[in-house]
Amino acid sequence: MKADVIQVVRSVESSSAIEGVHHKLKRYPRPVRDIHQIELTTRCNLRCKYCPSPQKLRAHEDMTDETFAAAMDMVTFFVRQGTQTELSLTGIGESLMHPRFVDMVEFARRVIGSKRDLVVTTNGLLLDDKMCAAIAPFAPKVFVSLHRPEKAGPAVEAAKRAGIFAGANPAPSVSAFDWAGQVKWHVSAPRTACEYLRLGWGVVLVDGRVTTCCLDATGGGAFGTVWDDPERLAMSPWDLCSSCHMDVPK
Ligand SMILES: C[S@@+](CC[C@H](N)C(=O)[O-])C[C@H]1O[C@@H](n2cnc3c(N)ncnc32)[C@H](O)[C@@H]1O
Ligand code: SF4
Ligand code: SF4
Repeated sequence: MKADVIQVVRSVESSSAIEGVHHKLKRYPRPVRDIHQIELTTRCNLRCKYCPSPQKLRAHEDMTDETFAAAMDMVTFFVRQGTQTELSLTGIGESLMHPRFVDMVEFARRVIGSKRDLVVTTNGLLLDDKMCAAIAPFAPKVFVSLHRPEKAGPAVEAAKRAGIFAGANPAPSVSAFDWAGQVKWHVSAPRTACEYLRLGWGVVLVDGRVTTCCLDATGGGAFGTVWDDPERLAMSPWDLCSSCHMDVPK
């Protein structure tokens, strides 16, 4: 397909997506059914140009113990309700930099039980044999992002030795997005329905706000906090949806 044709297709797609946002707003707000991700820190030891982290759209800080405990209470609610699925300890930052990372993995495993997946996505810089041995008893599924091969390679090997390697993530190269226009990067990810809105997945930000999706670099999509009544949490499409590579579901 020629570049200009692709451009036309994209603009038709995005205009129908914007109409979709307004049309489908009537079907929202939709109840939150699980906490899909918890952002343990907004600090990072890399500055990838395709990520919002270096832009510092929010303060770079670690989640407090109090906030993490409240997030775990909220996860407990959804576990008891029977709607909690997997939990990822990943946000816009590098989770392994949190000084209490291992304790948090242990706490999260206790709360979600043995049958649900506990996921961590890391750039691998701190994922050595010692770290793998510390978290392996809690059976996380560890994905290593391929930002720096000289760091990611040894991290993959360490995770394999510990039996916690789940996969490598080359997304910025092969399934890329521009964070709904928040960073300058190409978009090659396929258009799919937004799972956050479709399934009611909440994302806990480092400061305890609960937001609509993992693309929220500013906190602008927040609709509550971990201290709120989970039964009253509900999400709707928000400003960023109109420039997102994903479609707002009916
Ligand atoms: C924001 S990072 C946070 C976790 C960790 N710091 C890491 O890099 O794995 C989460 C995931 O987003 C991916 N990512 C970042 N920018 C991206 C982009 N522009 N397109 C696609 N994936 C991206 C990263 O490769 C990583 O797998
Ligand atoms: S993609 Fe991950 S490693 Fe790279 S800057 Fe963002 S948070 Fe850090
Ligand atoms: S910006 Fe909207 S459509 Fe895109 S991932 Fe977030 S909630 Fe979903």
